[in-house]
Amino acid sequence: MKRQFISKIGLIAATVGSAIGLGNVWRFPAETQTNGGAAFLLLYIVCVLLIGVPVMLAEFSIGRGGHSDAIGSFKNLSPGKKWWITGAVAGLASYLICIFYMVVAGWTLEYLWASVQGGLFDGISTLNSEAREAAFTTKMQQYVCTPIMPAIFTIIVVILNIIVLIGGVEKGIERLSNIAMPLLFLILLAMLVVSLTLPGAGAGVEFFLKPDFSKINAEVVVNALGQALFSLSIGMGILVTYSSYYPDNTKLGRTSVIVALLSMAVAVLMGLIIFPAVTSFGLTDQSLEGATLIFVTLPEVFANLPMSQLWSSLFFLLLFVAALTSTVSIAEVTIAMLQDRLGMKRLSAVLVVLVPMLLLSPYCSLSFSMQADVTIFGMTFFDFLDNFTTNILLPAVAFTTCLYVGFFAPDKLLHRQLTNNGALRSRLTPAIMLVIRYFAPAAIALIVLFTYL
Ligand code: PHE
Repeated sequence: MKRQFISKIGLIAATVGSAIGLGNVWRFPAETQTNGGAAFLLLYIVCVLLIGVPVMLAEFSIGRGGHSDAIGSFKNLSPGKKWWITGAVAGLASYLICIFYMVVAGWTLEYLWASVQGGLFDGISTLNSEAREAAFTTKMQQYVCTPIMPAIFTIIVVILNIIVLIGGVEKGIERLSNIAMPLLFLILLAMLVVSLTLPGAGAGVEFFLKPDFSKINAEVVVNALGQALFSLSIGMGILVTYSSYYPDNTKLGRTSVIVALLSMAVAVLMGLIIFPAVTSFGLTDQSLEGATLIFVTLPEVFANLPMSQLWSSLFFLLLFVAALTSTVSIAEVTIAMLQDRLGMKRLSAVLVVLVPMLLLSPYCSLSFSMQADVTIFGMTFFDFLDNFTTNILLPAVAFTTCLYVGFFAPDKLLHRQLTNNGALRSRLTPAIMLVIRYFAPAAIALIVLFTYL
């Protein structure tokens, strides 16, 4: 049976669900903090619209034009050529990302559980603010840097993925996304109201929205680009795979813009929630970096609010929902490959991809405890997976995808896909093509150069 999304809303929800992940809700605020606030936000928006959307359209053209998994789509479009290797590398990248992303998703579930059952706030209310920071830091050590609990929650996340993915594209992924995405936006809006009405929220809003252009330098630009590409799920094979499930009359241009806008909206809303909350309670700048932001600073904010447990539970539910729809999308890449390349049944393909994850992901979670000393090229297993994929595999896939669609794809693939074979008009095709041919590959090359200089 052909795998397909059945409704317009469903296909957008699923693609947005993939795009909106920990990249938007977590990485984005942290990056904005380190890169100087509003100026970074502005650059990120420019990068999403000018580079991200065209590259996304390149991936969509391959998936919907090739009608198959990320390897098969290249093979169908250019039989006998080696372009399918791009798809294979995307498959490898997606599998490796899946391993460590499950771990992070597991932490969000663990914090959700600790919020609901109250353990996160045990013994906090009597402490003064400095002692609170120390207490939440200790709790983070317990929740993340011990062997058993993180491994268990990671396993639960993998099992949830198995359940959703066995349901298939329409009854699993699409159904989950149709519930998860509206829920995510509702929680965001509720938290936004709370955050903006805190006393002293204005300073945070100003930092986030009033650009100081003197903060822009080459590094900030490159970081904004990297953030834009990661947060649109580019270079992972996801967009190729999902777009192969789009019906032929889906308008790709419109879909890509909606996905990009919603993904940016979530990032902006997160900024509007986090920065005012942090300035309102007089927390420090360093409190926004990486894991500290989510697991120490925000719990401190919640501890200051009435109904701490409720807000904390809602927030970690939001994070978990964002993470789940992303893990599902990334696992789907290799599942589709097994189905289309090897003719496996859905159930077997899901199990072949995810059962090993029941061991690999918990093992990866030990990078923060028992296995912290075991290193590959000087990095823990977790850091190695993260760096190898984000810095090497993803840019490589995105780069070759652009070259392929720009110069080597069969006659007018992009144009035919953007116009649904001539049924629509697309005046922007030449401009999009220009970006795909020259600007995007140059931008990606810059990111890589900067990473290694
Ligand atoms: N866009 C996703 C995010 O922001 C990227 C991603 C998708 C990562 C799927 C992992 C899995 O988090």
